[in-house]
Amino acid sequence: MIVLGIESSCDETAAAVVRDDRKILSNIVFSQLDEHRPYGGVVPEIAARSHLVHIDDIVGRAMAESGVNFADLDGVAATGGPGLIGGVLVGVMTAKAIALVHDLPLLAVNHLEAHALTARLSDDPAFPYLLLLVSGGHCQLLDVEGPGAYRLYGATLDDAVGEAFDKTAKLLGLPYPGGPAIEDAARRGRADRFAFPRPMRGRKGCDFSFSGLKTAVARTIHGLADPAADTADAAASFQAAVADILADRTANAIDRFRCDHGDGTLVVAGGVAANATLRARLAALAKSKDFAFVAPPPALCTDNAAMVAWAGIERLRLGLIDGLDFAPRPRWPLDAA
Ligand code: KG4
Ligand code: ZN
Repeated sequence: MIVLGIESSCDETAAAVVRDDRKILSNIVFSQLDEHRPYGGVVPEIAARSHLVHIDDIVGRAMAESGVNFADLDGVAATGGPGLIGGVLVGVMTAKAIALVHDLPLLAVNHLEAHALTARLSDDPAFPYLLLLVSGGHCQLLDVEGPGAYRLYGATLDDAVGEAFDKTAKLLGLPYPGGPAIEDAARRGRADRFAFPRPMRGRKGCDFSFSGLKTAVARTIHGLADPAADTADAAASFQAAVADILADRTANAIDRFRCDHGDGTLVVAGGVAANATLRARLAALAKSKDFAFVAPPPALCTDNAAMVAWAGIERLRLGLIDGLDFAPRPRWPLDAA
């Protein structure tokens, strides 16, 4: 089984061809970062137009590099939401056109499900597993029982964790996207320099909160005589606080998962899962709780189309095919997938 995947829900125009033996035949990601950077974040209108300009070329490159023809495909998958609707429309319409012309099944993939199932493309953990999904728009702990079968254990009450990275980077005068910029600055800083808060730590349940952390960073920075001199320490201290929060909430989720299913695997996914400090911390937590740990390679954590193609393969195997009347969804919670 071979599936073409298309991703266009945010600021990456991406296409990939993946085979059901977990072989990635091609994986092209075009980042629009240079177009959005002057604005300090993604501008939806610019993103939509840029997807439109680039998508045909990116799909063409993914097909050429894969060495297969449209006639060899078994399906075409595109992110159907959630995300910036202009971009999602471009990807879904492209996929529908390909499906129609080449008589292929269409698979409208929930972007969060694509992140959630990436670990099965890179490492193949069995269902059910515990998922910590940490991206620019989401921060959730989920019991993943299979494609389309998710149980929410907890989620952020305010900012997503990637959003906290991006907003904190802005406060610190670091470029967009903030996650990689903070991780880089933190390497030169002292994590014990500033005692930032750990919202929700020690509380029952699996919910998160990050807005107080971001406010504390703002207050601390504004109180410094020369904030630029302390950027690295602030970045390292912020990252340490995030690691503590994620580890604390995930520990509770592991205990709950164990009650539900027994021993299992902790999987981390989404753009923030590319962060080496956070990966190491979560790996140590899993080990201390006798859970296995899977984190996909960083290039498969940030937005890409291989994960969309893979989610398409998982859905196609189950016969979960979508009609050509599928309507893109700006919002699409995973536990209603
Ligand atoms: O999954 P993703 O590529 O797009 C969404 O679906 O949101 O995640 C993007 C988010 C951004 O907030 C970005 O700052 C964050 O992931 N991110 C990171 C790192 N790389 C990307 N956060 C922390 N450390 C990183 N190395
Ligand atoms: Zn994403």
